[in-house]
Amino acid sequence: MAEEIIIADGVSKTEKYEALIPQLKSLVESEPDVIANMANISAALKEVFGFFWVGFYIVRDEQLVLGPFQGPIACTRIRYGRGVCGIAWKAQKPIIVPNVDEFPDHIACSSLSKSEIVIPIFRQKEIVAVLDVDSEFFNHFDETDEKYLLEIGELVKF
Ligand code: SME
Repeated sequence: MAEEIIIADGVSKTEKYEALIPQLKSLVESEPDVIANMANISAALKEVFGFFWVGFYIVRDEQLVLGPFQGPIACTRIRYGRGVCGIAWKAQKPIIVPNVDEFPDHIACSSLSKSEIVIPIFRQKEIVAVLDVDSEFFNHFDETDEKYLLEIGELVKF
């Protein structure tokens, strides 16, 4: 397997995702273990975009339980319909939060996190995990992130 992710300097966000996704694809295709793949995807996203926190919560016993991630320690369990992650799970769709202070049910694992995007991950029609990305900047995420993070979420095969 490739030992590093290679992305040119000074390119746009779209170009970064476009360069990253084929590399992630070949990384996960050569490894059947979903935990290992979530770990490498978190590391690659953190490295390429410098996000504050990137990680997965996995559906277990009717809760989301912390999975592989990169960044500061985080809440370990989130209930269905609670927080941005639990609401994305319930709504079965991605959620972008431009300002976490204005999102009433946001769960603050760190006061440094200012905006957030959560992407559900499906096995057939059922949500089995979510990908959560936090930024220390307001308004950090848009439709471009949503589009490409959805593609990245599809690489995670439970
Ligand atoms: N903010 C999330 C909790 C997880 S942490 O951001 C890592 C939420 O509201 O669900």
